[in-house]
Amino acid sequence: MHPETSLPKVFKEFLPIIENALQKIFSEKNKNILEKSMAYSALAKGKRIRPVLALCAYKLFGKEDYETIATSSCALELIHAYSLVHDDLPAMDNDDLRRGVPTNHKVFGDAIAILAGDALQTLGIEMLALYPEGSAFRSRRLKALKVVLSAIGREGMALGQAMDIEEKEEDFDEESLLRMHFLKTGRLIEASLLCGGIWAGAKRREIKLLSDFGKSLGILFQLSDDILDEVSTAEKLGKTPGKDKRDKKTTLVSLWGMEKSIQMVEHYLSECLIALSPFGDKAQDLREIARFVAKRDF
Ligand code: IPE
Ligand code: IPE
Ligand code: MG
Ligand code: MG
Ligand code: MG
Repeated sequence: MHPETSLPKVFKEFLPIIENALQKIFSEKNKNILEKSMAYSALAKGKRIRPVLALCAYKLFGKEDYETIATSSCALELIHAYSLVHDDLPAMDNDDLRRGVPTNHKVFGDAIAILAGDALQTLGIEMLALYPEGSAFRSRRLKALKVVLSAIGREGMALGQAMDIEEKEEDFDEESLLRMHFLKTGRLIEASLLCGGIWAGAKRREIKLLSDFGKSLGILFQLSDDILDEVSTAEKLGKTPGKDKRDKKTTLVSLWGMEKSIQMVEHYLSECLIALSPFGDKAQDLREIARFVAKRDF
């Protein structure tokens, strides 16, 4: 899975930085079962789109010292990895396959998987509190930390996941379904972009533009995830397809049907591109990522 050749160019530039920083976070430490379980899920082959987005947003504001934000960008991946470990648990989506390997709880058991998710989340938060290092980053660290905390908690990803689990078909009109998608997936994607901008010292107006882009990209990302669940294969996805239908989930695809869903991909892609237009040529990497999200097959 994850043929790197089909990833946008910018991934080639940033993936080595991210993988290297992730390896460092887990080097020599995987001594006990909790650390083994955390490393198992965080180091498994994911697309790393959240840290890539943070690095792209940093680059957008003329920064080139990518190593400065390598560890803090990986914090976003750790938080994402936590959400996947918990999302796969029997009490949630009950999935057996993730990133091409058995899910965390299938290998380590439910209790350790729950704890590994907890500890991946707290490690991510700790990394955001400590990195980028140095007193020059003190206020930017705090700003980024607040953005991420608000994106993942009771008004963000955790609420979105709760809505997803508690859903009753009759409760879900288009507006509430879009809100749930935005909360469970969009907010961390948006926050990743905002972090890159904040670490780069972007102005409030520029952060607002990134936020508009992140909101459309977040919906586009979950819409394409829901489409792929219906049309793709386990081999390509690294996770089991067809689960949403089998579990009778209300998704944008079940609401709109496949034809309209594919049209809506084009709609959200054009929203993404419109949001980036004030940045001109500098946003080429982010444009490529939005196009990739729209046409991805994994
Ligand atoms: C999957 O995220 C879960 C969603 C939020 C839709 P990704 O598609 O980014 O998964 P990885 O990180 O590449 O495994
Ligand atoms: C999960 O959405 C969103 C998260 C916050 C993890 P899904 O349940 O559709 O993600 P997959 O398809 O299992 O990756
Ligand atoms: Mg889920
Ligand atoms: Mg799931
Ligand atoms: Mg899915």
